[in-house]
Amino acid sequence: MKVEVAGIGCIRAGERWDKSARDLFKEASAKAFEDSGLKSVDLLIASNMALPQYTDQNNVGSYLSDDSFPAFRVESACSSGGAALHAAWLAIKSGEYDSVMVAGVEKMTDRTTQMNTHILAGASDFEKEAFYGASFVSLNALIARRYMHEYKAKEEDLLLFSVNSHKNALNVPHAFFQKQVSLEDCLKSPYVSSPLRLLDCSPVCDGSAAIILTKEGLVKKEEKITLEASAIGQDTIELARRPDPLTITAGARSFKKASAKSGVTVRDIDVFEVHDAFSIMAALDLESIGVAEKGKGYKLAQEGQIALDADFPVSTSGGLKARGHPVGATGVYQAYDAVLQLRGQAVHQVPDAEVALCHNIGGSGSMVAANIFRRVR
Ligand code: COA
Repeated sequence: MKVEVAGIGCIRAGERWDKSARDLFKEASAKAFEDSGLKSVDLLIASNMALPQYTDQNNVGSYLSDDSFPAFRVESACSSGGAALHAAWLAIKSGEYDSVMVAGVEKMTDRTTQMNTHILAGASDFEKEAFYGASFVSLNALIARRYMHEYKAKEEDLLLFSVNSHKNALNVPHAFFQKQVSLEDCLKSPYVSSPLRLLDCSPVCDGSAAIILTKEGLVKKEEKITLEASAIGQDTIELARRPDPLTITAGARSFKKASAKSGVTVRDIDVFEVHDAFSIMAALDLESIGVAEKGKGYKLAQEGQIALDADFPVSTSGGLKARGHPVGATGVYQAYDAVLQLRGQAVHQVPDAEVALCHNIGGSGSMVAANIFRRVR
């Protein structure tokens, strides 16, 4: 039995001090309901990384749903959205639920940058990494430094991923940064943690996105989009315990499983929503999927292969870097962007897109979710 997409909705990622997390969810979920034609769902799976720390709110599923539908929260740091999609896919595949809404929500901007750095470091091994002063940016900076050393990549090679993401976010209504940046702008931006500069990093922001998945045929649509396969892969949470910190093993594992379930290979994929939380992660993520050989991911941007009209279109609405990265909601934004592309409704459309991969990384590569969407005519 296939799992189908009935509806999608989201709000613009950004600074939403005027609204609560519940308000953001209500806006996004109302749009998804309107898009689907459904009035209710059997289950709500809330994807969220850190509402308890951001707003002191626990019991997130109930906080969002109230008495509407049964609800619970899924958390796996920045891959919470991808993991929640996986849970929804399993729930429908099992035959237990006919319709499930996955709603991602995060409310980060009420906290200071210092507080955010502390909360985000919770995605690392807190005892072994954050406790000794490593932040999430600095862990990624260590990875980037090692990568540049091993493979002779330069700062500008990595920053080209940011240039691509910002270009793709231009005029996209739900994107936080709707402005282009040049490589020169990137190289002028200040270091946050060398070699990573401001424009290597995704921003702190608020956001909510929702997608309604149903069993096959529940909602009649002329053009169907299926969540064809969903899989997760795992690795150590602590970077130092990995045999090779430059390989996202969990990413490779998740894609391999999703590929085996769906029969979809790298060559079949038209749209790559990758986890460009930092420019280095975009390169490593593409290597883990098998788009590039190990150590050659950075060349994809250099050679123009990630552009919308090239072989491997990446971050088609701006990705985490420019559309925004409201951490726990991000995997659902990726799904939203994938569905827009498959419907032919994206602002920057990949011609005749049929298959889209959402690759959502948690921690510095500890848990990665791979969700493959397909348009069926
Ligand atoms: N990219 C581009 N511009 C950014 C930006 C980013 N990542 N972050 C902030 N800005 C811009 C703001 O829009 C603002 O512009 P303005 O002056 O024109 O209004 C300016 O930079 C200053 O913003 P501010 O919010 O004060 O920045 P900051 O110094 O507090 O935070 C970072 C910058 C990079 C530290 C913060 O965005 C960050 O921590 N990012 C990483 C988040 C993260 O680790 N996520 C999890 C990854 S898995």
